[in-house]
Amino acid sequence: MTVFPTDKFKELRTPFYYYDMNLLNETLSIVKKESRKHDFHVHYAIKANANDRILEKIRENGFGVDCVSGYEIQKALDVGFSADGIVFAGVGKADWEIELGLKNDIYCFNVESLPELEIINDHAHKMGKKARVAFRINPNVHANTHHYITTGLDENKFGISMMDLENVLDKMVDMKNVQFEGMHFHIGSQITDLDNFKDLCLRVNELQEWFISKHLFPKVINVGGGFGIDYDNPDDNPIPDFAPYFKVFKDFLTVKPGQEVHFELGRSVVAQSGNVISRVLYVKEGVKTKFAILDAGMTDLIRPALYQAGHKVENISNPEGAKTRYDVVGPICESSDSFGKALDLPEMQRGNLVALRSAGAYGEVMVSRYNLRENPPAYYSDSL
Ligand code: LLP
Repeated sequence: MTVFPTDKFKELRTPFYYYDMNLLNETLSIVKKESRKHDFHVHYAIKANANDRILEKIRENGFGVDCVSGYEIQKALDVGFSADGIVFAGVGKADWEIELGLKNDIYCFNVESLPELEIINDHAHKMGKKARVAFRINPNVHANTHHYITTGLDENKFGISMMDLENVLDKMVDMKNVQFEGMHFHIGSQITDLDNFKDLCLRVNELQEWFISKHLFPKVINVGGGFGIDYDNPDDNPIPDFAPYFKVFKDFLTVKPGQEVHFELGRSVVAQSGNVISRVLYVKEGVKTKFAILDAGMTDLIRPALYQAGHKVENISNPEGAKTRYDVVGPICESSDSFGKALDLPEMQRGNLVALRSAGAYGEVMVSRYNLRENPPAYYSDSL
């Protein structure tokens, strides 16, 4: 459970990100233990949080990295991840990004379309290289999550559709500078019902038989990420239950001799370790409701405004105060700049410190400078 050092926070200008490094360490060691039990390989999805201190810890635990841009590849290399642990996905890889990946001999390109495969082959040819490629396949499996973060359905832009696979394979025969490594999937994010992953496994099993019937052996089955966390009760469930998650894949995926299973976990690794700490600026009586106006806004944590996501709001200066009902909002000139409506919280007063919980994933990386606000700084439990 994260304990906030409110005395130390008093000195600091808000808003800022605060990371519980003990919780991160514990989470990482559990991910390591539970994945290794089954010989699974984990690539951390750097898009969830690319903060240097966080990345160092992840690197120390021996994970690879899943990147979706050249900038992320460069960041992973800069903080010392080895290139042979880097995979590169994304529907729109720019030429310079492909070249960067090839130049550094990254482990694998997760290819999302035939035109992309052709361009990778061309660049590899020009550079005298052979690119390892996995096909990102859109498996048309439902993830039962917010539609903005569902990725594996026919209507989504991601991956090669199952209809197009045969055509891509036929064309690949003539491409001399790509080498087939395996299959890649990612059906969505914040998935809490493990049955969705079971459905994915069953689809993967069918597909790998199909590949083998075409005389292509998928050495790697990369099942992506997507494991969800408990946003409502971060203190009761600070570490997602990784054992049953990995066990679904152990139980339902048919793994053949010589095959590796790869994961790309983002949110589940880092979300609960991060918090936005802000102060109450004003408590304002509205016509229908009381507003608690924070100095943190959607520029610091966009998830509520973008996905109607709920991040637990806590008054950490006055945790025992009598409960009052508030709409908790930020200072940005947008009505969607809200962290929750009709929340029953300990009485809020100007200057109280407020924590927005579970903000370690897709928080700091999605900060924007709208209204010309400054990027919030980050502080860490082990160096405050
Ligand atoms: N692999 C691929 C190919 C992905 O696209 C993603 C996330 C992941 C792995 C990691 O998924 P995770 O384990 O974190 O669920 N900004 C949104 C989430 C977008 C996820 C995009 N892809 C949010 O704040 O909810």
